[in-house]
Amino acid sequence: RSDLSLDSCRIIDLPRIPDNRGSLTFVEGRRQVPFDMRRIYYLYDVPGDSERGAHAHRNLHQVIIAMSGSFDVILDDGRQKREWHLDRPFYGLYICPLIWRVLKKFSPGAVCLILASDLYDENDYFRDYDEYLLSVPR
Ligand code: TYD
Repeated sequence: RSDLSLDSCRIIDLPRIPDNRGSLTFVEGRRQVPFDMRRIYYLYDVPGDSERGAHAHRNLHQVIIAMSGSFDVILDDGRQKREWHLDRPFYGLYICPLIWRVLKKFSPGAVCLILASDLYDENDYFRDYDEYLLSVPR
């Protein structure tokens, strides 16, 4: 489905409330992001040579935010690939269902926050790339 392609994945510019006491950013379901959050999780203590992700989801919508530090995200819809470098806590990368993603090149101390549209469900994962490709006719 074309609405579940790389063209739907995009950087969301989150609100920023500047203040000389420090900055504030917020995320509300169905406002700044196009789904209601049901889960958050985060990656931290990630070695610089480590790769995370390497899977796709059948139904899950996600937004990835570099809360601290930086890392690269490579998205692949089975037809084309695109790469993002996330390094600021006010940018969210929206990932629609059926996108293969790899996260790598974590800087020391990087924290990767993921906002997810549903609870954890292993049955929602494609963990095998060839199986994924067969299941997403492009
Ligand atoms: P995994 O999805 O492989 O991590 P990543 O995509 O970030 O590289 O998950 C690693 C392990 O953590 C796996 O055994 C499943 C478990 N897990 C949960 O129990 N709940 C969760 O919300 C997530 C994201 C993972």
